[in-house]
Amino acid sequence: MIKKASIIGGGVIGGGWAARFLLNGWNVSVYDPDPEAQRKIAEVLTNARRSLPSLYDKPLPAEGALTFHENIADAVKDAIWIQESVPEQLGLKHKIYAQIQQRASSEAILGSSTSGFKPSELQEGAMQPEQIVVTHPFNPVYLLPLVELVPSPITPTALTRQAMELLESIGMKPLHVRKEIDAHIADRLLEAVWREGLWLIKDDIATTEEIDDAIRYGFGLRWAQMGLFETYRIAGGEAGMKHFIGQFGPCLKWPWTKLMDVPELTDTLIEKIAAQSDAQSGQLSIRELEQLRDDNLVGMMRALKQSGSGAGGTITAHEASLPMPVPTELPVTVSQQVPQSWADYNGHMNEANYLQAASLATDRFMELVGADAAYIAAGNSYFTAETHLRYLAEIHAGEHISITTQVLLGEGKKLHLFHRIFGTNDELAATCETLLLHMNLKTRRTSPPARKIALKLDVYVKTHADMLMPRGAGRHVGQKPSRLK
Ligand SMILES: NC(=O)c1ccc[n+]([C@@H]2O[C@H](COP(=O)([O-])OP(=O)(O)OC[C@H]3O[C@@H](n4cnc5c(N)ncnc54)[C@H](O)[C@@H]3O)[C@@H](O)[C@H]2O)c1
Repeated sequence: MIKKASIIGGGVIGGGWAARFLLNGWNVSVYDPDPEAQRKIAEVLTNARRSLPSLYDKPLPAEGALTFHENIADAVKDAIWIQESVPEQLGLKHKIYAQIQQRASSEAILGSSTSGFKPSELQEGAMQPEQIVVTHPFNPVYLLPLVELVPSPITPTALTRQAMELLESIGMKPLHVRKEIDAHIADRLLEAVWREGLWLIKDDIATTEEIDDAIRYGFGLRWAQMGLFETYRIAGGEAGMKHFIGQFGPCLKWPWTKLMDVPELTDTLIEKIAAQSDAQSGQLSIRELEQLRDDNLVGMMRALKQSGSGAGGTITAHEASLPMPVPTELPVTVSQQVPQSWADYNGHMNEANYLQAASLATDRFMELVGADAAYIAAGNSYFTAETHLRYLAEIHAGEHISITTQVLLGEGKKLHLFHRIFGTNDELAATCETLLLHMNLKTRRTSPPARKIALKLDVYVKTHADMLMPRGAGRHVGQKPSRLK
């Protein structure tokens, strides 16, 4: 049965949660008294559809249904997850919980997006306090995996475990905050950086742009893949963490930091920050900035997938849980959305990314015949010896592509594949013919595949033997292009 999430408060964060659940196949019901809520959520969804599927090399589940409701009672009906994302006022949140708990299932999890309140504060005076936990996400919720999951001392362990599992099933990385604290973990760190930033502006040391440059050209890049402590471990050199602390620890007592002093947010300071921010980024609309941010996040997270570091590991784990579409005649070896980062200055998919897509198809086919990660780790693999690509139609970023793979030859150490790359409306957009040789990774020489691989491969060889030889196969560069298969 399709799971249902209820979103109470559909602003920046609630809209992001709605998109995250919908694109992972949940039905979503929203309650937000703002007459503009439907339009705002539609815009968040547009951004999410453009970016989230691009993280994966498999299709996400079919999108769930989105409904809007006039009151909380209707919205929470049958929901197994209720996410509260109303403005950050404790009294308002308490009032909302009273209305939710009158009608919601007592089995449902009630997560709050609160950036600052502790779960025990949220639970005060509630009908069923143990149902309420903090699930603090990061903007854009549909793309960033982190969610701080904060139970209180009275939260049942089983509920925390169930919440972890449900959040993981929608591609998130729940960080279990074991001890409740104001503002959880991440916002405490961010506040420290923000506070120093405000001082640097107030004291005329740096502008908003210079502060952002100090982050994005340097330590910001390090943080996304290793965080703070693993980065510092490397900075300590071979002598490691103790050496690093010995060297830089004393600086903490030097006047490098304003520590807990907070600059007063006077009108003059606010005006100064806003004017600098306008000069820095005012030429782009918020929507344009959001799309730039999302494209960059997708590109960075796809890069992290290669090593499995940080957010990349979360995406790989989620992807492994997604089913591949059922093969029809030829196996479908790729079915995914084209990420923005695959588009070039001509506005279509770059030539190199056609090969990247075909290479994903080859990897998938190797998995189908059992030449998977364990087989490779055991010292065997296929290496590409030759490739011929034909570009037949444009493919654009955001478009859904699928690839089928036909075996032309699978004999001894030779594996000869023909990939057909289809764009929207199943139009044949490219073909990639590739010859692979089986290798022994220890001797780095060709070798016959293991018997279990040869047997599985033989099933495809026999099935595909009756099919016509593709007319695009065996061609050389410059031959009259054929649009036929
Ligand atoms: N903005 C962020 O970066 C961020 C990040 C993480 C968590 N949060 C937290 O998420 C929560 C929401 O923040 P936001 O940034 O989305 O705010 P927002 O102002 O964008 O959205 C709040 C939404 O709640 C709606 N609302 C107001 N009263 C309501 C009511 N009685 N019932 C239902 N909906 C109501 C508003 O119409 C609005 O759409 C806060 O607790 C905040 O601390 C914000």
